[in-house]
Order: sequence, then C-alpha cells, then structure tokens
Amino acid sequence: MKKIIITIDGYSSCGKSTLAKQLAKRLDYIFIDSGAMYRAITLYFLDNKVDIQDPTTIESALAKIQLEFKNNNHTGQSDIWLNGENVEKAIRTMKISNHVSEVAALEAVRHYAVSQQQAMGEKKGIVMDGRDIGTTVFPKAELKIFMTASIEVRTHRRYDELKPKFPDISLEEVKENLLKRDLIDSTRKISPLRQAKDAITLDNSKLSMPQQLDIAAGWAAEILKGQLATVDKSA
Ligand code: CDP
Ligand code: CDP
Repeated sequence: MKKIIITIDGYSSCGKSTLAKQLAKRLDYIFIDSGAMYRAITLYFLDNKVDIQDPTTIESALAKIQLEFKNNNHTGQSDIWLNGENVEKAIRTMKISNHVSEVAALEAVRHYAVSQQQAMGEKKGIVMDGRDIGTTVFPKAELKIFMTASIEVRTHRRYDELKPKFPDISLEEVKENLLKRDLIDSTRKISPLRQAKDAITLDNSKLSMPQQLDIAAGWAAEILKGQLATVDKSA
C-alpha cells in the first residue's frame, strides 16, 4: 500500500505531538517528535556545561551524543533515549524549555538533527512534528499541516499538563516561555518556524482531540486516494 510523509509544524504547545501520535497510530505509521531531539541535545549541553558560543566545543559535544527513539512497553509511547538513558521525563522540565530554543538555533545542532530526521523518513510511513519539518526536513512531504491555537489556549494546555508534576508552576511563567520560544523559533536565521506554502492550516483552538484527528485523518485519506486538490484546505 502507498505510504506518505505527514509533517505537522506550528507554535509551541498547540497540540502537534498529540495529533501526530494519534494520526500515526490510526495509519499504522511511525511517529517522530522532532522537538524531543532538540530537548535531549539541550539536556546534554546543560549537564555537560557546553559553551554554546564556541563552535568547536559544540561540534565535539554533538559527536558524543547518540539519540534513539524506543517503544515504552508500559505506556505504549515512543520515548527518547540519550546515550543509552531514557530521558523522556527529564527533557520536559521548564529548565529545558527555557534553554532549548537557543540551542535549536545553532547551525551545527540543526544540521545534526535534520540529517537524522531525514534518514528516519526514507521509507515514508512517518508522521513527524516540529517547526521546520514541512519546510526543511521534508519539503516534498505529501501532507503538510500547520497547526495553530490562541496563546491563551496554548498556555492553559501546557499549564494543565505540567501542574501535576510541577505544583509550583504558574500560568504566567508558562505563557512567557511559550511566547519567548515562538519568537526565537520564528526569527532564527536557520530554518525558522514558517508555514510552508503548501501546508494546510489547522487552528485547533476550539477543536477537541478527536475532532482534530478526524480532520487530519480525512486529509490523509484524500491524499492516499489522490484527491486532496478537491477538498477544502481550511479548517
Ligand atoms: O513545547 P513544545 O512541545 O511545543 O516544543 P517541542 O516540540 O518539544 O520543541 C522544543 C523546541 O525545540 C522548540 O521550541 C524549538 O526551539 C525546537 N524545535 C526546532 O527548532 N525544530 C523542530 N523541528 C522541533 C523543535
Ligand atoms: O506538540 P505541541 O507542543 O504542539 O503540543 P502537545 O504536547 O501535543 O499538546 C499540548 C497539550 O494540549 C497536551 O496536554 C494535549 O493533551 C492538549 N491538547 C488539547 O487539550 N486539545 C487539543 N485539541 C490538542 C491538544
């Protein structure tokens, strides 16, 4: 059966990974959270006090990093491993969120991550979410989705997710981090967050998770049938 590449890009915490995961499950495709790779690299850089002003230090640090996605038998999710250690939880802290966009803007880091992401998509049958997946990683992807939601909605979604694990967290702190990352991600020199010209916008501010999945799965079905040009591209 024909397999395609589906890219989901957009602003922080609008629900890209949630949709990518569910869409991959429905299509029996591989799901890759590209942001997890930048978060894991950031964790390594912080733990090893890598000087991000020094290109030589960055290159030698990257040469020591090995990233893998492995299925977690307990959760059924795909976790990221850094040098043989499961770091799925360790990369979701505010400390990492506060540094990741600076690290992700570095040329060597982008080169390192993008080449691995492209290799993962060689056989197609993949749903990858991030910031530059439809523009840089897979510019020829068959289905490109650009997700967005209001900053209020995104803040509440991320706050609700973090509050049980980090009881001291505040709404203001979460909002500030999302806005700061959106700004750095969309203004950096290399592969800034941009909507690809051929990406379909999906504003999910008022959509439930099952609703957004049905819309995206409908688009994928149309592509697989070769009919997307005839469907309404707005949602
Ligand atoms: O918090 P959220 O899930 O929205 O972000 P993420 O997908 O985990 O990505 C964390 C950060 O990694 C982003 O804010 C970007 O700085 C960077 N990133 C990127 O530059 N390119 C990607 N393809 C994915 C993430
Ligand atoms: O990957 P990204 O940062 O764009 O967002 P996410 O991690 O997939 O989603 C952030 C939070 O929003 C998760 O807790 C989702 O369960 C929630 N969400 C939601 O409440 N309603 C949606 N329509 C989509 C996501």
